[in-house]
Amino acid sequence: DMGGHDTYMHKEICEQPDAVDRVLRGRIDDRFSTVHLGGLNLDAREARSIRRVKILGCGTSYHAGLIGAGLIESLARIPADAEPASEFRYRNPVVDPDTLYVAVSQSGETYDVLAAVQELKRKGARVLGVVNVVGSAIAREADGGTYVHAGPEVCVVSTKCFTNTVVAFALLALHLGRIRDLSVSDGKRIIEGLRRLPAQISEILTMEDEIKKLAKEYADAKSMMFIGRVRGYPVALEASLKLKEISYIHAEAYPASELKHGPLALIEPALPTVAIVPDDDLLEKNRAALEEIKARSGRILAVAHQEQEKADHTIVVPKNEDELDAILMGIPLQLLAYHTALELGRDIDKPRNLAKSVTVE
Ligand code: F6R
Repeated sequence: DMGGHDTYMHKEICEQPDAVDRVLRGRIDDRFSTVHLGGLNLDAREARSIRRVKILGCGTSYHAGLIGAGLIESLARIPADAEPASEFRYRNPVVDPDTLYVAVSQSGETYDVLAAVQELKRKGARVLGVVNVVGSAIAREADGGTYVHAGPEVCVVSTKCFTNTVVAFALLALHLGRIRDLSVSDGKRIIEGLRRLPAQISEILTMEDEIKKLAKEYADAKSMMFIGRVRGYPVALEASLKLKEISYIHAEAYPASELKHGPLALIEPALPTVAIVPDDDLLEKNRAALEEIKARSGRILAVAHQEQEKADHTIVVPKNEDELDAILMGIPLQLLAYHTALELGRDIDKPRNLAKSVTVE
């Protein structure tokens, strides 16, 4: 049942305020400015002994994991990174007892992720799952973890599960941070930021008409560039994947800082750039990248917290805490991909060559 929407993707994009509300519900502990995640099976002593976090997932879940790694590093100050599970399992990785492994999967059935979990467990590692589907294979195989409570996602491409997975990582990062060295006041600041998310997502969803117009404007592009820096880079990766998957427009994502090391050669009016430009300590650096692109007559669509002078268009989104901005900045780009695909007459809920869950190698 699409509940009045034309596609499941549209329905699922619009469900995000409620979905985020669900992943937060019952987990926040205001007294200690922390969160409780029931099924982690990780006590305080174990949480304090973690030396690294390695996050594994595929596709959109891998991108959510990249943002998750950034959240864990900044809030819990544990070195963390994410890697495609499919790559990890084939490179005979060194499995380290002081590393916490986290497997991310919407369906909980993706074979490459499941195989990575099984290999890790065989080698004695501790593996947590960040999963949407309750009781799925990865959820059962993991030593513990947390459900992302996005509700069923029918569209082949992931939207609300991505957002909820990132929020679940924020909760995990806050939980680990408060056991380690994150202050009460920072804990409180992040909790307040998390609580603002549902209303801010609703606010972004009211901008759909404006985003639809922008989609019409850029739908003729043969290729698009997505750039971001540090927290913004995984947002660029995910937005570029979403555009490719449903519109079939070729897109690339680059760290803004890498432009001058090669991809700047591509910039010309026919290759528009979508730039993630949050109002944080990297704002001036990001603005410099916009200038470099403008100097080569590139068209720019910015997602930012204020109008960007060098951009042809700016989608202005509400500001949250710096650590949480990435969650909001991806949402208008889901709508951009959606309306671009609609404009091009694509089969949005069932893009060619793709399946909802990839249970084969
Ligand atoms: C993209 C998408 C895929 C999945 C990937 C992993 O929109 O949906 O990239 O994210 O196949 O699937 P899960 O999360 O079920 O393991």
